Amino acid sequence: MEDATESPAIHPAIAPLSYLLGTWRGRGEGGFPTINSFSYVEQLHFSHSGKPFMAYTQKTWKLNSGEPMHAESGFWRPKPDGTIEVVISQSTGLVEVQKGTYSAEEKVIKLQSELVGNASKVREITRVFKLVDEELFYEVQMATNLTSLQPHLKASLQRI
Ligand code: HEM
Repeated sequence: MEDATESPAIHPAIAPLSYLLGTWRGRGEGGFPTINSFSYVEQLHFSHSGKPFMAYTQKTWKLNSGEPMHAESGFWRPKPDGTIEVVISQSTGLVEVQKGTYSAEEKVIKLQSELVGNASKVREITRVFKLVDEELFYEVQMATNLTSLQPHLKASLQRI
């Protein structure tokens, strides 16, 4: 079925985060105490349908070869009180329920996993997003069965 509305009005609940809407592309660096570090290219897309959530998709590629790497998608559900809930399903099969807060003024979003499911090693995931001078930065940390919370990913993206 076609969309009933081509350009729906932004729902008030997502207005504080509407600066994310659109497509972002950039580079990231990954690492963890137990793995070799790596570089990647990433594309993020945020869209909305007029409902109180944003749809999110992410794809990554190896920096040098362009070979596809990790991908994930989900829904971002900001609330008027400054809290936010994000659900993400990863290409590895892992699922996350993230809870956190956002600041519309500082353009910072902080997420802490409430649930990590279907994961063999991962126990906890944190994600922080920040917009600085039109550039979107994020950091992902994780804890595994063997390692406490440590950085896994860091990237900066520009709107395309
Ligand atoms: C390794 C989880 C996102 C690329 C790992 C490991 C885990 C993991 C548990 C194994 C660590 C170990 O063996 O001690 C996650 C989670 C992610 C995520 C929870 C998102 C929240 C990504 C993304 C990329 C990526 C976006 C690529 C851009 C890799 C690579 C390795 C790795 C290349 C090393 C694999 C190896 O050497 O065997 N990740 N990852 N990960 N991850 Fe991620």
